[in-house]
Amino acid sequence: MKIQFSDLGLQHKEIKKDIMQSVNKVLKKGDFILGDDVRLFEEEFAKFCNTKYAVGVSSGTAALFLACLSIGVGPQDEVIVPSFTYIATALGVSYTGAKPVFVDIEEDTYNIDINKIKSAITKNTKAIMPVHLYGHPANMPAIMKIAKEYNLKVIEDAAQAHGASIKMEDGSWKVTGGIGDIGCFSFYPSKNLGALGDGGMVVTNDKEIYKKLLMFRDYGRISKYEHAIIGYNSRLDTLQAGILRAKLKKLNSWNNMRIKAASIYNKLLGEIEGVVVPMVLSTVKHVYHVYAIRSKKRDELFNGLKDSGVSAIIHYPIPLHLQKAYEDLGHKTGDFPVSEKIAQEIMSIPMYPHIKEKEIKYVVNVIKKVLS
Ligand SMILES: Cc1ncc(COP(=O)(O)O)c(C=O)c1O
Repeated sequence: MKIQFSDLGLQHKEIKKDIMQSVNKVLKKGDFILGDDVRLFEEEFAKFCNTKYAVGVSSGTAALFLACLSIGVGPQDEVIVPSFTYIATALGVSYTGAKPVFVDIEEDTYNIDINKIKSAITKNTKAIMPVHLYGHPANMPAIMKIAKEYNLKVIEDAAQAHGASIKMEDGSWKVTGGIGDIGCFSFYPSKNLGALGDGGMVVTNDKEIYKKLLMFRDYGRISKYEHAIIGYNSRLDTLQAGILRAKLKKLNSWNNMRIKAASIYNKLLGEIEGVVVPMVLSTVKHVYHVYAIRSKKRDELFNGLKDSGVSAIIHYPIPLHLQKAYEDLGHKTGDFPVSEKIAQEIMSIPMYPHIKEKEIKYVVNVIKKVLS
């Protein structure tokens, strides 16, 4: 059997009519740049995140970069970032001239270790940028507390966590992205909410930040040919916004299908010795952007799956502090031991809303065979 890592075709088939309708609407109207669907999608996505404002941008990386700019991050500043994430988290900081300061992760949730944040704070620290890796929310109640104590901003990298949520200290549940000062999302096609190309979103409750974001994404404009700041061309396309509006209606049910698939994996893989299944705290809703397992025999498993027609991906084989792009920061092997260990053991196996139970069973059986 051949099992893809993700099958976007199945979700597009489900809403093809809606997608074609929105494309035709934009073709007819011709409002390709910052058209009606961008505004409407921003309103709908802000509501989804329970924030006052949302600003559509060209990618998740742009969202992180513009979010940093909007709170005044620049050269001389530092932003705290987990050492185990996709490189774009740190790039958003680096583009401003600021320094990403890495902090190791927790061995169970793979998110930033809240017990190691305080020792990374200096007089130059401007913000903490937690990542809700794989769709499991970072410990936001603790992070918000530290940020308050040190007067820091919090920029959530929610690129992998559309619709995830976490129980806060007052007992309320909050959607990831809508908790910190700013939340950043990617609509890269394979994300839980994915465009048919690149796209991103920044959400916030802060009017000043919102006003800055509107300018930064659109040439620093205050009117058609009046520019108040050095801005960028970093807008979400109307075509993509229309398609994302159609997909947003499905997001909760597609997330629930991922959760159901994960529960089947958890049950079957939990019985196999040598496999660590994802840990889910009782205070979070994990949306399984990826389903990542761990094994000391990761490479054998990866090859065994490949030989049996199953696509797996390693998210991520090299932690950020060991990336060549960041060699100037002077880190070495051993600096962030948990990230390094996870990078050697982790592997993501097929996960998408429409994956079938028999496909999950096939993947699990291959894993069982390789490890026996
Ligand atoms: C954690 C994380 N942050 C940021 C990004 C960047 O998003 P994009 O690819 O839309 O620029 C991604 C996705 O690629 C991601 O997984």
